[in-house]
Amino acid sequence: MFMLLLLLTTLHSADRELQAEKRFVEQVQHVRTSAAALKGTPPPVQTVEEPVDEELVQQLEQELPEVDYGYWYRYAKPNKYRMNETCALYPDPLDLHLHNIYWQTFINANVTFRLYAAYLDLRPGVKLPKGVVRVLATANQINNEFPPTHCQLWYADHKEPIMTRVSEYLSIWISSWGHTPLLNYPHLLSCPVPDLPPNLQYVTPRTVSLVTKSCERASNSLRVHYDIPPVLNDTIKDSSGSSLNSTSSSNSTAKLSFGVCVKGFDFPYMDLSERLIEWFELQRLMGASRVYAYMYDVHPAVQRVLDYYQRIGYLELRPLTLANGMPRLRHYQHLLLQQRRLVKRLNELIPYNDCFYRNMYRYDYLVNVDIDEVIMPLGTLRSWQDVLDTDQEATIAKCPNGHVSMCFINAYFTKVVPEAQNHEQLEADQLYVLQHTMRHRDYSRPNRATKCFHNTRYSLTLHNHFTLKWLPGSCNTRSVSTKLAHMQHYREPDASYELSELVEDRSAWKYANELRAGVEYVWMHLDDVLEQSVDTEEQNALEDLEEQETDLEQAQEQQQMLQQAQSSKTTN
Ligand SMILES: *[C@@H]1O[C@H](CO)[C@@H](O)[C@H](O)[C@H]1NC(C)=O
Ligand SMILES: *[C@@H]1O[C@H](CO)[C@@H](O)[C@H](O)[C@H]1NC(C)=O
Ligand SMILES: *[C@@H]1O[C@H](CO)[C@@H](O)[C@H](O)[C@H]1NC(C)=O
Ligand SMILES: *[C@@H]1O[C@H](CO)[C@@H](O)[C@H](O)[C@H]1NC(C)=O
Ligand SMILES: *[C@@H]1O[C@H](CO)[C@@H](O)[C@H](O)[C@H]1NC(C)=O
Repeated sequence: MFMLLLLLTTLHSADRELQAEKRFVEQVQHVRTSAAALKGTPPPVQTVEEPVDEELVQQLEQELPEVDYGYWYRYAKPNKYRMNETCALYPDPLDLHLHNIYWQTFINANVTFRLYAAYLDLRPGVKLPKGVVRVLATANQINNEFPPTHCQLWYADHKEPIMTRVSEYLSIWISSWGHTPLLNYPHLLSCPVPDLPPNLQYVTPRTVSLVTKSCERASNSLRVHYDIPPVLNDTIKDSSGSSLNSTSSSNSTAKLSFGVCVKGFDFPYMDLSERLIEWFELQRLMGASRVYAYMYDVHPAVQRVLDYYQRIGYLELRPLTLANGMPRLRHYQHLLLQQRRLVKRLNELIPYNDCFYRNMYRYDYLVNVDIDEVIMPLGTLRSWQDVLDTDQEATIAKCPNGHVSMCFINAYFTKVVPEAQNHEQLEADQLYVLQHTMRHRDYSRPNRATKCFHNTRYSLTLHNHFTLKWLPGSCNTRSVSTKLAHMQHYREPDASYELSELVEDRSAWKYANELRAGVEYVWMHLDDVLEQSVDTEEQNALEDLEEQETDLEQAQEQQQMLQQAQSSKTTN
């Protein structure tokens, strides 16, 4: 056991080391070795090989995934990439203005940008033959004029940068939702790719830098993501161990694919393992190909669940810090996210939009949900694909290109647990979603607290609840009928209610057997380093975490209606 832990510590990054250390401590406490004894026995000396060359590049890229060290090491540095001796020298990664680990600072006149990631957008709706490089960033202003900004685009095997100018500064927030000076507002900056020399016609850019004057040596450099779909034989294992097509749910004739995006996990104190496993298995049963999530900080037991899903390839986890620079410290960061709602809300738009752009070529739809939410197919429908197929029969004539997003009406599933009627129900009590079947009879209004499938062909900027802006060609957001599906939200409604207002809704039960089998399988295959501790009080505390955000949600709902009204005016 000790050796295993040592191995763990050496294998994992600094962050994980902390976790492993914690596990180690817990383990030691578990076998009742006193803390004093631990201090008295220093661990054996560990030598860490210093990586060199390609191996070093690999390590650096793991530490800072958005900085393309490989490009610097293999092309830009040995071949002195630049426009000429005095113009646009390629930035040395060691000179980048890093900010709070995962951001890079770019100051232009009076505006401070923090850059997070960049993506090549080649979707037909962009209407530019070479597409546009989009930079996801924050700016310390909203709704004000931006100073002119230049983009330097770099290509493999091409010494000079391609210069272009930022053509658009799309805000991913509406200032009327709340705005104070000194905060960082998420924006999407666009660098349209200009005409290219013949040797670059079919090449995509490797990195992008933003500068005030085109000849400047940049202080920032981001890898440009263009992640085309995984190859057909890229299969993942489902919980029964059999091979499953990554783009299909339970039916191999499935034609639509769904990726799920989850904002930054911030559960340092709660062991949500059980709920989380259930949630993952449900996503899979509904047809999610893979889950993409972001990490602030989680309880070690939750980390173990996340490790498992990463290991089997069903979860991609990215680290995240706050754009403003508040440090990534367990207790401080959590307190801040709890008590500074605006900071939290602004920051969560980064993972939603990053997840969308990173994965837009891999899936037909990206789904933004929280881990207390499940978009549930109703009646005889079993998968998200079924829901869209059925809905499409009614809409295809009016909307041949599809809707920019398909949204699901919010339904509150309360804490109230009905008494088990039979043996099967008693047994199922172990699973939260099978146990919690009491739904408030009133659905939320369409648009209110809704969650959507975002169409990857059209969405441009995304918000937690809906698409903010989209490319031409699609129809407006559609609210899917509650006859086909709804969004099961496991929390208490904002207003107090009588028990008589609850109705029993056992929609989740159609998955009971598969869900139970899936969850059981996962528990059996998590590694056994940590002792399982299940505290139902902690589990139930998830709902209490949800703050009442009535005002903000109302404002956002209005905004969406306004947006739709405007958009239908311009398309008619
Ligand atoms: C370097 O390139 C810039 C931009 O193309 C140009 O204005 C400048 O004259 C060049 N300088 C030299 C020394 O060639
Ligand atoms: C920067 O200057 C512009 C133009 O004068 C102004 O509109 C904007 O508010 C300023 N931004 C900041 C962050 O001071
Ligand atoms: C399947 O994967 C293998 C190895 O990863 C690769 O060599 C092969 O070309 C792939 N086949 C197809 C049809 O993509
Ligand atoms: C798959 O879907 C098709 C049509 O959508 C249906 O006829 C068939 O029964 C489904 N198969 C399974 C195994 O669910
Ligand atoms: C995966 O998809 C391919 C092509 O769509 C199909 O031929 C194959 O049977 C599928 N495999 C499974 C295990 O569903």
